[in-house]
Amino acid sequence: QSARAAEICRMAPVVPVLVVDDPAHAAPLARALVAGGLPALEVTLRTPAALEVIRAMAEVEGGVVGAGTLLTPGDVKAAKAAGARFGVSPGATQRLIAACEDEGLPLLAGAVTASEVMALLEAGYTVGKFFPAETSGGAAAIKALGGPLPQMAFCPTGGIGLGNARDYLSLSNVMCVGGSWIAPKAMVQAGDWGGITRLAAEAAALQR
Ligand code: 3PG
Repeated sequence: QSARAAEICRMAPVVPVLVVDDPAHAAPLARALVAGGLPALEVTLRTPAALEVIRAMAEVEGGVVGAGTLLTPGDVKAAKAAGARFGVSPGATQRLIAACEDEGLPLLAGAVTASEVMALLEAGYTVGKFFPAETSGGAAAIKALGGPLPQMAFCPTGGIGLGNARDYLSLSNVMCVGGSWIAPKAMVQAGDWGGITRLAAEAAALQR
């Protein structure tokens, strides 16, 4: 599972974190992001429409849709059934990890402390999410963790935008970053797909 999660992180420098209220927005939004060069998409399970959104995005060619905010084994089952090809969680519990193993769902589980990273390593994961990135010490904290724990790579998320993404992407233990800035709510609601493609292209051009 860890190798498959790493593959997702290698697809692009940025994974858009999507909070979608209206399932009608799902397919055009996914197409706009893929067109801009961001194929891996995280749909958070934070809206009632999320599973329907995942189902619609899973049909979009060139996209690899995942489910974010996985908290329980039930979330894992529902996300997999909807067509999610990877999962993201703000943290990590043994039950959640076991459920993802059972379902064959690659997981980016959250870890920000040395002990949390060590627990993920023990579970066989060498890639994880670092959340909430900016308030957990930001790029400096990830760099420091890389001293004793260089085998763990991260996808930091939370408070990241175009302005500070480079601070993270320049680190050897950062594979990609996640963020919601590529799909602002107002642009999604206005159906500004061209604008979202431009934001995605800007993000896709970031160097790692
Ligand atoms: C997440 O769910 O990972 C974060 O809410 C995304 O953080 P951002 O909105 O600060 O980009």
